[in-house]
Amino acid sequence: MLIDGHGRTVNYLRVSVTERCNFRCQYCMPEKPFSWVPKENLLSFEELFWFIKVAIDEGVNKIRITGGEPLLREDLDTFIRMIHDYKPDIDLALTTNGYLLPDVAYRLKAAGLGRLNISLDSLKPHVAAKIAQKDVLAKVLDGIERALTVGLKVKINMVPLKGINDDEILDILDYCQARNIKVRFIEYMENRHADESLRGMHGREILDKVKERHTIHALGREGASPSFNYVLENGYEFGLIDPHKHDFCESCNRIRLTAEGFLIPCLYFDEAMSIAEHVKKGDIEGASQVLAQVLKDKPKENRWSEENPNEEKEISARAFYQTGG
Ligand code: GTP
Ligand code: 5AD
Ligand code: SF4
Repeated sequence: MLIDGHGRTVNYLRVSVTERCNFRCQYCMPEKPFSWVPKENLLSFEELFWFIKVAIDEGVNKIRITGGEPLLREDLDTFIRMIHDYKPDIDLALTTNGYLLPDVAYRLKAAGLGRLNISLDSLKPHVAAKIAQKDVLAKVLDGIERALTVGLKVKINMVPLKGINDDEILDILDYCQARNIKVRFIEYMENRHADESLRGMHGREILDKVKERHTIHALGREGASPSFNYVLENGYEFGLIDPHKHDFCESCNRIRLTAEGFLIPCLYFDEAMSIAEHVKKGDIEGASQVLAQVLKDKPKENRWSEENPNEEKEISARAFYQTGG
């Protein structure tokens, strides 16, 4: 079992397979980075899988593949099959922007993927295009339908932004209810890579919008999930991810692995340790030692501040496209 320095059990590994992305979301990667990680520095699927096996053998039972946009990495279904075949009962999920899903949803399902979280920030083509800086909506909606058709379990992530898509919270809720899929509204997390003019909505403001049309009851957190769940009068459940109120950090169960082989203890902070050298040598003991150190160093909580969410000192230097959110 993996236990961190604050006594929390870590059973969830998020694996970013690429930092590259085909969108330029204003809250994540508004501009193409000055340079990408050189291809030769990326761990191969075999190398990532080697470490994943070490992590599974030490107690990880939930793996999420992220990016950047993970579907940009060729033959991702092969990687998914490797993990699934090693431990078929693992909770194996993928977070994607959905754009490439129409073509690959079937292959992902056949490879053993269980579920998908898809970003959907707007149902208006021009607003979706403004946020992602590309005309994306039709493909994303098609991707969602395709994923549902092939039998993948889907959740939707929406990041409400003031003056941009804050008038669409109820529409996205309706869209998800109609398909019986869960939506999680995510508070915008300030970071130095995002467009600085953006203003996120506080969790309270998001709930107030929902309350304009619905009666809601709080259900609580689902295990160690960052999502706090609510239920509408008709039984439909949705979630709110509110990192500015860091109570979910108390039960944080996750670490992150980047495509270059860095293990990251917390989304907010810059700290990371590389396992690449150990992976390349097949040195299980060395990799386990780095893992133990990263767990020991895992911070108690993030520093997104509830009081001053947009204040300079609380802005994280970490890019979401490197950590996979
Ligand atoms: P489920 O397994 O379906 O609950 O997924 P998830 O919420 O773990 O994954 P997803 O990739 O959909 O992440 C949703 C949002 O939660 C993203 O914006 C993440 O950045 C955010 N998030 C996930 N883990 C953390 C965390 O440890 N800290 C903070 N602050 N945000 C997180
Ligand atoms: N704040 C909140 N959520 C973010 N995501 C990416 N950047 C941010 C940010 N700055 C979300 C994406 C995706 C998930 C993995 O992370 O919308 O759904
Ligand atoms: Fe790409 Fe996701 Fe970042 Fe948008 S949020 S730029 S889709 S990695």
